[in-house]
Amino acid sequence: MALPADEASVTISPSELRSLRDELQRFLLEYRFGMQEIETKIGILREEFEHTHAYNPIEHVSSRLKSPDSIVDKVARKGIDPGFESIRARVTDIAGVRVTCSFVTDVYRLFDLLVRQDDITLLTVKDYIANPKPNGYQSLHAIVEVPVFLSTGRVEVPVEVQFRTIAMDFWASLEHKIYYKYDSQVPDRLLAELKEAADSAAALDHRMERLHRELHGPHPSPVVAI
Ligand code: GTP
Ligand code: MG
Repeated sequence: MALPADEASVTISPSELRSLRDELQRFLLEYRFGMQEIETKIGILREEFEHTHAYNPIEHVSSRLKSPDSIVDKVARKGIDPGFESIRARVTDIAGVRVTCSFVTDVYRLFDLLVRQDDITLLTVKDYIANPKPNGYQSLHAIVEVPVFLSTGRVEVPVEVQFRTIAMDFWASLEHKIYYKYDSQVPDRLLAELKEAADSAAALDHRMERLHRELHGPHPSPVVAI
């Protein structure tokens, strides 16, 4: 259906365009800072843990900021009002940090150590380890809010933190590539194999954890003063 000409095109002056660009950059900057705060917190836990317990529960940490294109796609897909305030409230994965741990117990331990910090607010948690997705996907997802202090004051920034094991990460990255290659139309045979591979990954996680425990005894418990 063709839109009337006045609805089909919006004329923006160069100065309006510049101020929109500045607003978008500032909007994304807050998420970058929120992401950096979480990275620092995870980095501190990692170093302190290694120092105190001579054990590193984290294999790998990666972060990403959603691109303006992906934000626009999500806004359209979910029918979100395209203003900064509603995007801020509804798109909670603009800043994402992924923490890949050695063992499943480390996943829960790291999650716990992060969300019990008193400047962190836990908004939502999805435990796809206790309840894997039907396709086999496993990970522990948390949306947390972290304060960022700007020249204009304090803002709470939501960050999506995904905690997973190496085996879960290996599976998720392959599944993502397959999904992408088949443009979401993955043949049933491959879907069934992926589910089996997810079950094998979970079995491997259990086995590795049991072996690790036999070697070192139960995991060290951090001394936490509350
Ligand atoms: P999005 O709209 O995609 O952000 O999903 P959601 O709001 O339903 O949240 P959910 O916590 O289920 O998933 C968030 C993120 O987890 C995704 O963007 C992926 O990074 C990851 N994820 C979730 N499900 C899968 C999956 O089946 N396979 C893979 N490879 N990654 C997944
Ligand atoms: Mg997402």
